[in-house]
Amino acid sequence: MLEVKDLSLSYGQKNVLKNVSFSLKEGEILCIVGESGSGKSSILLSIMGLIPKGGSLSGSIGFKGKELVGLSEREYLNIRGKEIGIVFQEPSLYLDPLFKVKDQVLEAYTIHFGKDGAEERVREVLKKVGIQDVERVLNSYPHQLSGGLRQRVCIAIATVCNPSLVLADEPTTALDLTVQKKILRLFFDLKEEGKGVLLVTHDFGVVAEVADRVLVLKEGEVVEEGSVWEVFDSPKSEYTKNLLSATYLRA
Ligand SMILES: Nc1ncnc2c1ncn2[C@@H]1O[C@H](COP(=O)(O)OP(=O)(O)O)[C@@H](O)[C@H]1O
Ligand SMILES: [Mg+2]
Repeated sequence: MLEVKDLSLSYGQKNVLKNVSFSLKEGEILCIVGESGSGKSSILLSIMGLIPKGGSLSGSIGFKGKELVGLSEREYLNIRGKEIGIVFQEPSLYLDPLFKVKDQVLEAYTIHFGKDGAEERVREVLKKVGIQDVERVLNSYPHQLSGGLRQRVCIAIATVCNPSLVLADEPTTALDLTVQKKILRLFFDLKEEGKGVLLVTHDFGVVAEVADRVLVLKEGEVVEEGSVWEVFDSPKSEYTKNLLSATYLRA
């Protein structure tokens, strides 16, 4: 469903992505791993058409047969949120503190599909992300919820329109370890529903937990790609070995 070819991104003289290529299938979780500054978030922003002014993008991003590079903002509005959902690291920065959860999830739906059936869909998606007391959460402001619940709400917003591709940028980094596992489980559920999931992380523990395949990024370049087992059992680059040992030293 997603075919990225020779994607390059630069800001002036600074090359942030260098000929990045990879693909993603339905029902698959691909993790992008790399140290801070390696370009992980830039890949997701490129796919979402959210590269800030001054960034120059080339190469190809094929999504369900459509070329995304160079798409107009108007065309992107029909894709963002509807066909591709995104979850960010820090839910409290993403959610609006001034609006109740209900308004925020509803808006994500009605903007594409209108008010018909919206309330039902919102309740359904909140249950799906493992929220038990749906009514209380719907009527809460973000600050009244725990970090884990807030991230569940963000995943609900990202999936309320039933997109076929879900992107996630370090979605569990800000959470306690026990909560992290539960949230990761939700990405696994999305995969089982047949969605493609592109998950960015700097943590090989996360990769071991959910990924089918891994892409290792260093300074904007792909240094390794393979199944989780290939990469864990026989990492080809020193860089990957170091990332791996950093994970297991910490664990
Ligand atoms: N708007 C921007 N202008 C200039 N450089 C940027 C901009 N956004 C990101 N970068 C640079 O791109 C590189 C990759 O950033 P990023 O994709 O955020 O990496 P990661 O998510 O792996 O930490 C970094 O060197 C960062 O400083
Ligand atoms: Mg990042």
